[in-house]
Parts: sequence; structure tokens; C-alpha cells
Amino acid sequence: MSRAERSKANNNGEIPLARRFKPVRGAFSARFKYLFFGSLFLTLISLFITITSNSFERFSIAARQKHLNSLISSDGLLLGHFPYPEASSGELVVAYAGLKLHRDTFIALRDMRAAAAYDGVSLVLLSGYRSIDLQEEIFYKNKSLRNQIAIERAKVSAPPGYSEHSTGYAIDLGDATMRETDFEESFEGTPAFKWLNRNAAKFHFVLSFPKDNSQGVSYEPWHWRYEGTVDALRKFEPANKRLRQERNSKSK
Ligand code: DAL
Ligand code: ZN
Repeated sequence: MSRAERSKANNNGEIPLARRFKPVRGAFSARFKYLFFGSLFLTLISLFITITSNSFERFSIAARQKHLNSLISSDGLLLGHFPYPEASSGELVVAYAGLKLHRDTFIALRDMRAAAAYDGVSLVLLSGYRSIDLQEEIFYKNKSLRNQIAIERAKVSAPPGYSEHSTGYAIDLGDATMRETDFEESFEGTPAFKWLNRNAAKFHFVLSFPKDNSQGVSYEPWHWRYEGTVDALRKFEPANKRLRQERNSKSK
């Protein structure tokens, strides 16, 4: 080993370990940059997708509502349905099978079911209170599932904000011994319907959509509304006023 080589070897031993190697700052910072900008890019993309899909959803809900509003007739009806407010949570109670009802409807239905049972008839509650959100889902989801336009769907289902069910005063009833007639016109042939026809008025229940009703809604022998309080009567006054006018004009 020459002198120069020996001196280099000795010196090398004196250089602290950390300083013996060239720092690789260039390669590390490039990798870090890729990582940083890559994740920033992905975050921005997902933010963009979330914002655009939310605004699209908001836009389509607003567009649908605007379209529905344009169909409202001068007397306030939308596709044959009157507007109804949603019951407040304080007015609602959980009734049979977890279905909610206005507390006054619940008490009247409880008494009516007891009276029917006494006569050997078993009434089943199929549907009660529905939030406007749920009605929206029913109306739009079923409409598209059945490939129906709004005008067809409105014959069997009210648009959101226009269902008697949202008040907590409307109920759909079935016959426990003939479940195949649930939500079917054939319900009119059951002992339950015959009993209701004779007795429901005693408990302040009224058939909302009789055959050939002027609202153009399909015949629903299972759908009854409670009119036993001033509050309920006030909610259904527009519908009852229309009935009175029709009867008056027929009797002239
Ligand atoms: N089925 C009745 C019309 C409603 O949806 O309220
Ligand atoms: Zn109903």
C-alpha cells in the first residue's frame, strides 16, 4: 500500500459514519413528491366526484319537484291528490307490527278492532303513517320499477307531500283470514270489508277512495281515513268540500 493509500484508509476511519456516504436526498424527495401529489390528486378527484354527484342528486330532486309543482291544478290537487302535512313525531305512536299512527287513529282503531273481533272479524293493519321521504321513495321507485309515468302511478300512489298516510290518520286494512286479498280489489269480498262497510263510521273511519271517485284515484277498499277529531276534519276538509260540491251538483 502506498503512502497516499494508507493515509486515505486512515482518514476514512476518522470520518463519522453518517458523513461517509453521499446523501440520497434527490431520489427520496422525488419519491415523496410523487406520493404527495398522487394522493393530493386522488383526494381532489374523489372530492370532485362527491360534490358533482351531490349536486346532481339535488338538481334531480329539485327538477322532479319543479315538474310535479307544474302539474298542480288551481284547486291545489296534484294528479288528483290533495296536499297533506306530515304528522309531528309527538303526535305519533307505534301501533301494531311496528307501524306508526296518529295517537287518535290508534285509539279509534284499537276500539274498532276489538268490536270487529267480537263479531268474529279479524282486521289487520297493513300500513299507517308514512313520512314524506318514504312516500317519495314509494312513488318514484315503484314508478320506475313498473315503468309507469307519474300520471299512471298517481292512480295507486300519492306523490310525496300528497298522501293521507303522512298525516298519521290513514290506514290500510286487511283480513287476517284472507291475506291474499291484501291491497287487492278482491278485499271488498272479505268479511273484514263487509264489516267495515257496516261499522267503520261508528269509529269515524271513512273510505277515502271509493269506486269511481272524482279524484281519479283507483278504487282502494283497504284504505280508510280517521275523521274523529277537529284536527283530522280540518286536514280532510278540502277532500270533503269537493265531495259536498259534487253531491250538490248531482242533486241539482
Ligand atoms: N295509496 C294512496 C293513494 C296513497 O299513496 O296515499
Ligand atoms: Zn293507503
